[in-house]
Amino acid sequence: MCGIVGYAGKDRAAPVLLDGLQKLEYRGYDSAGVAVFEGNSLRIVKKKGRVKELEGARSLCGRVGIGHTRWATHGAPSEKNAHPHAYKQFALVHNGIIENADALREECLARGETFLSETDSEVVVHLIAACYAGDFGAAVRAAAKRLKGSYALAVLCSDFPDTVLCARQSSPLVVGKGRGGLFVASDLPAIAGEGVEVFALADGEFATLRGEEISFFDGEGKPVPPHAVAYRFREDVPEKRGYAHFMKKEMSEIPAVMAKNAAAFLESPAFSSFRRALLGAERIQIVACGTAYHAGLCAAHAFEKLCRVPCEANIASEYRYRDPIVPPNTLCLAVSQSGETADTLAAAQIAKERGAYLAAVTNVAYSSLTRLADAVLQTEAGREVAVAATKSFNAQLMLLYGVAAYLAREKGRKAPPLGAMAKAARLALSAAEEVRGWTAHFLAAKSVFFVGRGADYFTALEGSLKLKEITYLPSEGYPAGELKHGALALIEENTPVVAVVTQKGLAEKTMNAVHEAYARGAKIFAVTDLPEVAACKEAFASVLLPPCPEEYSPAVAVIVLQALAYYVSVARGNDPDKPRNLAKSVTVE
Ligand code: F6R
Repeated sequence: MCGIVGYAGKDRAAPVLLDGLQKLEYRGYDSAGVAVFEGNSLRIVKKKGRVKELEGARSLCGRVGIGHTRWATHGAPSEKNAHPHAYKQFALVHNGIIENADALREECLARGETFLSETDSEVVVHLIAACYAGDFGAAVRAAAKRLKGSYALAVLCSDFPDTVLCARQSSPLVVGKGRGGLFVASDLPAIAGEGVEVFALADGEFATLRGEEISFFDGEGKPVPPHAVAYRFREDVPEKRGYAHFMKKEMSEIPAVMAKNAAAFLESPAFSSFRRALLGAERIQIVACGTAYHAGLCAAHAFEKLCRVPCEANIASEYRYRDPIVPPNTLCLAVSQSGETADTLAAAQIAKERGAYLAAVTNVAYSSLTRLADAVLQTEAGREVAVAATKSFNAQLMLLYGVAAYLAREKGRKAPPLGAMAKAARLALSAAEEVRGWTAHFLAAKSVFFVGRGADYFTALEGSLKLKEITYLPSEGYPAGELKHGALALIEENTPVVAVVTQKGLAEKTMNAVHEAYARGAKIFAVTDLPEVAACKEAFASVLLPPCPEEYSPAVAVIVLQALAYYVSVARGNDPDKPRNLAKSVTVE
């Protein structure tokens, strides 16, 4: 969350910063700002809202500067809370959370300093100024020693108008050199380019961008070697290709993405090491957040059913603080589209420290998670621009189902082939268009329920999350059998209940819950591959899914729920690509 950029070079900094910020806008779009040296004085422009609000700053002439796009943590989205924050001769941009900001602010207030914002970041610029005695690098290092929490920082000092100083602790930061300039950014796409060498900062490291060189230091100011990041440059300008939104375009790619990912793990350079860990695993622990956690739940179900290996999916933010038990021969699968989710990284780190073999299932080859993992199983979903995850979820599912099917067969057990899944997804995608006709019944709903049993419950959870994220309607994903234990009290006349029914052995049981809801006035929408359920008298409307092995059915059924969320979001006048309050990459706790 929050994207930071910096530039020192031969070109005008402002256009470089603004273009970089555009590429980082998926990290937050509450406010944006830049600071650029004009001679020795700093020009700062900040605005509430999206990066495009900063266009007026494009004409700034200086060649050294920093920029920021914000996802608010401390302090409301507003111009005064926008970065860069400045104090005395310093200005900085920050991504992360300073946990001891209140105590540090008290110290500053006691010295008579005043604050212009409510942010934790402004405290850092005051701290740097307090540590300054003429040595810019020493001041940033001394301030960093006093910070608790996470930060990626890019700092300017008007005594050194040719320099950008950077620091990293638990928030991603890369620096680059090439095309006549030096760059820093939260993420590689913001600085990648033909002939640009990129280096990642490790936790506790600092970098100075000055002249034609980047120098790297540890916390004591001793030089450290650079960590080069290998990447293949592709001019990756995301385009909607005729679709109204990225989300819709990304959903259209699901069948192709699913075809690519069923055997993707076999391509991993670390496959033989991963295979050893997989075959020797006595249990599997999955750690992930949000949609990736739902992929983990589906995968855990498949691992247990197909391989009879105990497997649990864990919400990473809970796992990291519950003193988890990691017995010998545990395989930990950390699932993360971005590979930068702070909670997932922390949970994965703990599992690894406690002896688990750590495999990263991620869409981003150069992410922090890949650096931490023993093996990287890369999902091939391509870049996902819409904040709400769609195709990356289907990619995670297919990769994990592929691993489960492989392990089952290695254990001499049967597993259904995955070969027909892409075709099923294609058919589901066209069937999903029927939900356009459902939107009117959801637009003003007080609450929406998604129910299912077994793997269908996980699909229901993901359908509910999608609806919440982009329509802002209150919704719950519920195990069908649990409705009667409390949630049924919320069912009123016309409350929409979406029933996911693909698990044949459980269909009758799910339908019991559907009857109970229907009897209390719920409007039932069925998503099922069972013709008898699609045609049942309780169903106000239904989508009949193509047949697919029930172990893998979430990858197909979810497509209908993604489409439902999309169409309801559009009908409510929202921008499904940029839901309020959310960001694509959640790099704070
Ligand atoms: C939902 C969504 C989020 C992410 C979650 C984890 O549409 O995108 O719930 O799934 O923030 O992100 P990654 O997968 O990058 O770790």
